[in-house]
Amino acid sequence: MKCNRLVDAGRRQFLRGGLAGAAGAAAATVMSTQQAKAQGLARVEYPPNRLANIADLVENEPLDITYPDDESPGVLLKLGTAVPGGVGPDGDIVAFSTLCPHKGWYLSYNAGDRTLNCPGHYSRFDCEAGGQQTWGHATQNLPQFELSVDSAGDIHAHGVDELLYGRLSNVL
Ligand code: FES
Repeated sequence: MKCNRLVDAGRRQFLRGGLAGAAGAAAATVMSTQQAKAQGLARVEYPPNRLANIADLVENEPLDITYPDDESPGVLLKLGTAVPGGVGPDGDIVAFSTLCPHKGWYLSYNAGDRTLNCPGHYSRFDCEAGGQQTWGHATQNLPQFELSVDSAGDIHAHGVDELLYGRLSNVL
């Protein structure tokens, strides 16, 4: 008899645990929805800023810039072929943050395969594919700066498509 009561108590405990688990799963669903909304907010517009002129660029040679402020280093690149996010007459001018999204090491450009590479833990980002991570420890693609070119050939940045390293949100 005593043994049966223990079994019943065990069943009740199990059911309570199951209900708690279901409630936890529902909460997790809400969390992921909120996270998805938060991710949508990663793409923001910053005040436009002139980075350089087309005449300043040499094909496949990075030009150092900062955007949206002096604490955010990046590179401006003329890749020679049209690429995602590319602007200018050839659709080949892009700009990226050079702070690794993993732990903020400074990235260096490899002209051979047109990637930005991290000396910290070896993450690699494809400049011809919108900064897509192709290797390493980072958990997001490289922030790409949104650009436009005016009639004088000046290149302006307007926004960023991923969260910049070290920032809780893409705000100034
Ligand atoms: Fe770049 Fe870790 S800091 S991969």
